[in-house]
Amino acid sequence: MYSKEEEIKQLKRQLEIEHTKLQHVYSISREAIDILTSQKGDKLNLILQVIVNKATEDLDSEIGSILLFEPKSNVMTMHAAKGLEEDIIKETHLKTGERISGWVAQHKEAILVLDVEKDPRFARRSHERYYTKSLISAPIKINHKVLGVINVNNKRNRQPYEQEDLDLLEALAAQSALVISNVNLYNELQELYMNTIEALTEAVNARDHYTKSHSEHVTQYAVAIAKEMGLSKHEIEVVERAGKLHDIGKIGVHDYILTKPGKLTEEEWENVKTHALKGAKILEPLGFLDGVIEVVRQHHERYNGKGYPDNKQAGEIRIEARIMAVADAFDAMTTERPYARALTKEEAIGELKKESGKQFDPEVVEAFLRVLGKKHEWGIKAKGEQD
Ligand SMILES: [Fe+2]
Repeated sequence: MYSKEEEIKQLKRQLEIEHTKLQHVYSISREAIDILTSQKGDKLNLILQVIVNKATEDLDSEIGSILLFEPKSNVMTMHAAKGLEEDIIKETHLKTGERISGWVAQHKEAILVLDVEKDPRFARRSHERYYTKSLISAPIKINHKVLGVINVNNKRNRQPYEQEDLDLLEALAAQSALVISNVNLYNELQELYMNTIEALTEAVNARDHYTKSHSEHVTQYAVAIAKEMGLSKHEIEVVERAGKLHDIGKIGVHDYILTKPGKLTEEEWENVKTHALKGAKILEPLGFLDGVIEVVRQHHERYNGKGYPDNKQAGEIRIEARIMAVADAFDAMTTERPYARALTKEEAIGELKKESGKQFDPEVVEAFLRVLGKKHEWGIKAKGEQD
């Protein structure tokens, strides 16, 4: 029997543990959201690393790791680790049942091992290099399916782990399972949305033959300019994606306007102009396309502030959008349109020079002229569109 005082002490301790668990769930969720909505690659492993860091920190341990099963296989590899050397992380491949992690995955239960050398389950299995004899390990599972294992060992104070340590690790394992299924869901959704966007782009392209190769040409020119100007890898990627998607908002512009031979009325022109904003709105749910969305919105802004939709000027306009404007105009000018003949390459270059510093960023125009000088093979005979 516990005395009243001991009972209260126990309860207080229990409360502290629950509080710590909640804090973990909260801070991991926050960091997971930050990573998911960032431009960072390999989001899953980044989030798992956050969990491993938390686990080792709060369990005051030197070593921690998360192993996950490879898709459709019974082999686990290490996705996040702390305190282990790079070659161990890379070379670890464990089958179900193999060593401690494999045992935990097979039996689907968390374990606290006080002395790994004396434990009959592992006495002859363990070849891992442990500085201390005690370790804890918990399966990461959704419903009854084991996705992997989280391990912690080498307590800094060299004491064996206790039941409450294992409880905390199990909470982190549950959190890991949630993260994994969320990341998978997120990826599937992004893929689904991206496919929808591609289908929409196709639909826009199919509406009139002028638009068909326009996006491709604009992308080619714009990427070449971006490279010529020494933009970063990320910026070039934004240029490439935005090039393909820049006119996606035309899905919301009337057919008869897009294909109208002859001059547009004021009202029709206003309708065409909505496509920049509409395009940005369509792409909005794709968080990872942040920069791309801005470029789509800004691709008709002008260097002198007289463009649309926001009348931004010069440096207020993203560099990728200033590039897109030149590439877009050049392809449109050199293409036969319902209401205008195609300009020759020289005539179009003349127009770019004339508008340099007004409609276009002079540095972008210069870079494009250098690109055109190098690429004689670009005969610019492509079919384009009307703006
Ligand atoms: Fe456009």
